[in-house]
Parts: sequence; C-alpha cells; structure tokens
Amino acid sequence: MLVSEICCCVVLAVWLDTTHWSFQDLVSEGFIGQSVLLSCISSTSSAVDVFWRDKDDKVLLDIKEGKPDPGSQDPKFKGRVSSFPEEYQKGNFSINMEKLELGDDGNYECSILTGTGTETIRIMLSVKEGNSASCGSTRTNVLLLFVLSALSLMFYV
Ligand SMILES: *[C@@H]1O[C@H](CO)[C@@H](O)[C@H](O)[C@H]1NC(C)=O
Repeated sequence: MLVSEICCCVVLAVWLDTTHWSFQDLVSEGFIGQSVLLSCISSTSSAVDVFWRDKDDKVLLDIKEGKPDPGSQDPKFKGRVSSFPEEYQKGNFSINMEKLELGDDGNYECSILTGTGTETIRIMLSVKEGNSASCGSTRTNVLLLFVLSALSLMFYV
C-alpha cells in the first residue's frame, strides 16, 4: 500500500477515536469532498431544541421539538447537513456534513436547550486535502484499511 494511503487512514483513525469524547471542545478532521460526523451528545435527556451554528453564526441545522427544521438552514449548508432523528431520544444530536470544502474549516457550536438551561458543545473542524479515493467513509472500511496497512507494513518492511 502507498504511504499516502497509510497516512490518510491513520489520520482518519485518530479522528474516529476523538469522536468518542463526550466532553466539550472537540476536534474533528475531514477531507475535501468527503463527509464528517460532528458529534453533539447531550448529558441530559430533557433536550427541547438544538441549534447548530458555524463560526459566522450561519444555521447548519435547527432541531425544534424533536424534529429537524431544514427550512431554516443557511444556503451554504442546504442539502449537505443531515442529522439522525432516531438518535435524538438518546441525546445524540450529531450531524453529518457532506461534500466538505476548505471553507468549512473552523469552529462549530451545538447548543442544546433543555428545560433548565443551555448546554453548548464546540467543535473545531479542520478540512484537509486528502487522497480521498483510497479511504472508505465508513468506520468498517477505515478500520479494514488500517489493519491491512499495518499488516502490509509488517510483511514488507
Ligand atoms: C450518534 O449517532 C451517529 C449516527 O447514528 C453515530 O454514528 C454515533 O456513533 C452516535 N454517537 C453516540 C455517542 O452514540
């Protein structure tokens, strides 16, 4: 396997690991043209509304009374940001952003309005140019590539 492939997959594997943090101020990494999961997990189950905003206060997605409200999305994010309604019940308000561009770089905020206050999760997204074709977008593909890379290193170095 090519060294660039291995690098690409190591970076992705590290990123997948960081998505397990459930604390504030997360760091995510994605590649141009690919998609990235921005994690927003509520520590309480009494969320009412959720507001996703970018560094310019543009609307990525609003979730109102348990339903995504695509009508309020900024044109910049229309059609490329989706959430997982089946996960709301678990306090998982993560979104998937597709077709990443360099301009998507920067800080994002997920504000969760609960009955008692607001919880805000900040994510710093860095978008990189990558050898995207060789890296699958699903966890299984990435892990598989990662294991294959490791194996090929063991056998051929
Ligand atoms: C939240 O939901 C997404 C989409 O189903 C999933 O990939 C992610 O692992 C979930 N996060 C947690 C902490 O459950």
